[in-house]
Amino acid sequence: MTILVTGGAGYIGSHTCIELVKAGYDIVVVDNFVNSCMEAVNRIRRLCGVEFPFEEIDLTDYSATDGLFDKYKIDAVIHFAGLKAVGESVTMPIEYYRNNLNSTLSLLSAMKKHDVKNFIFSSSATVYGAEAPVPYNEATPVSRITSSPYGNTKLMIEYILKDTAKAISGFNAVLLRYFNPVGAHESGEIGEDPTGIPNNLMPYVARVAVGKLDMVHIFGNDYDTPDGTCLRDYIHVVDLAKGHVAALQKIKENCGVFVCNLGTGKGTSVLEMVKAFSKSCGKDLPYEFTARRAGDLPAFWADPSFAEKELGWKAEKGIQEMCDDVWRWQSKNPDGYRS
Ligand code: NAD
Ligand code: WQD
Repeated sequence: MTILVTGGAGYIGSHTCIELVKAGYDIVVVDNFVNSCMEAVNRIRRLCGVEFPFEEIDLTDYSATDGLFDKYKIDAVIHFAGLKAVGESVTMPIEYYRNNLNSTLSLLSAMKKHDVKNFIFSSSATVYGAEAPVPYNEATPVSRITSSPYGNTKLMIEYILKDTAKAISGFNAVLLRYFNPVGAHESGEIGEDPTGIPNNLMPYVARVAVGKLDMVHIFGNDYDTPDGTCLRDYIHVVDLAKGHVAALQKIKENCGVFVCNLGTGKGTSVLEMVKAFSKSCGKDLPYEFTARRAGDLPAFWADPSFAEKELGWKAEKGIQEMCDDVWRWQSKNPDGYRS
C-alpha cells in the first residue's frame, strides 16, 4: 500500500514516515519546505534505510498536485502539510486560510479524479474550543469557532472532509485531533526545528538548555491548577506517529468518517515540564513567571479511551522520555538541521 505523506519533511510528518516504513508501507513524500528543509528528508531516508520518492511541490498548485497522482499509484493520503503557528495566523489570516484550505482542496480534487478514497488529516484539540469540559472526548461538540484563524482552518477542513465523505461513496476520512506533540526520534537525528524564536514551550525550553536563549518565561502562575501554571497533554511525537499507522488499519476496515483524539490522558504543568527538562540536560534551567499569554486555556487534556478501544493504540512514552529525546536532538543539533 502506498501512502502519500504531505508535509513529510516537517516535525510530525518526518517521524511518521519512519513508522510507516517500519510498518511495511511504501511512501511518497511531498513538501514545499516553507517550514522545513531537504536535510530532514535526507535524514529520514537514512533512518528508514529506504530511498523513497520525494517531490518538492506546493500543494496549493492544483495541477502539480494532480500530477502527483498521475505519476504515483497512491492508496491513501496522510495530510500534515499546513501552516501551524497560532499567533502568526492572527496577523496573517489570508495566508493561513489560503494555504491550509487550498492545499486540502487541491488534494481532494486530485483524489476525486484518480478515485483515491482514503484520507487522514492532522486536526487539533483546538477544535474543541474554550468552553468544552475536560477531559475532551470525541462526543464533545466542536466549537462554532476556535480561538485563532489557524484553529478555524482545522475546523473548516474537518467539515470539508465530512461533506466529502457524504458525497463520495466509500470515502474514508480520519480526523486525528492531536494534543501537544513534543519529543524527538530516539536517534537524535530528527526533531522539531522551528525558525526564529520558538512560540511553543518545548522548543523554547530546549533552546534555553543549549544556551541559545537566556531563560524560560512561564506565562502565568496564578491559574487554578495545582502549581498555578497551565496544564497540557504532552504526547511523544513517536507515539503520535504510531497513531497514524493504527489509523491506516482503521481505514482498511472502511471506517467512513472517523474522529479520534491522540493524547495521553494526562495533564502536565509548565513548571513540571521545565523541571523534567532540567533533569534531562543535567542543569537547573533558569525561569521566571511572567504575565499570562492571551488566549491560553488553564488546563486541558484528552480522554484517550476511544483511541485505545477503536485503534488499539495507546501512548507509551512519559514526560521524562519526551524531555530526554528532545535534549538528545537539541544537543546534537544546536542549530537544528543547519547544525
Ligand atoms: P511542520 O510545520 O513541522 O510541518 C508541516 C510541513 O508542511 C512543513 O514541512 C511545511 O514545509 C509543509 N507545508 C506547509 N504548507 C505546504 C504546502 N502548501 N505545500 C507543501 N508543503 C507544505 O508542522 P508539524 O508540527 O509537523 O504539524 C503537522 C500538521 O499537524 C500540521 O497540519 C499542524 O497544523 C498539525 N498539528 C500540529 C500540532 C503541533 O503542535 N505541532 C498540533 C496539532 C496539529
Ligand atoms: C504550552 C504551555 C503556555 C511557551 C499550541 C497550539 C495548539 C497546538 C499545540 C496546533 C502553555 C506555556 C509556552 C513559553 C510558557 N497546535 N508556555 N512559556 O498553546 O498549548 O498549544 O500548540 O494545533 O493549537 O495552540 O502550546 O507549547 O505554546 O504552550 O509558559 O515560552 O506552555 O502558556 O500553557 P499550546 P505551547
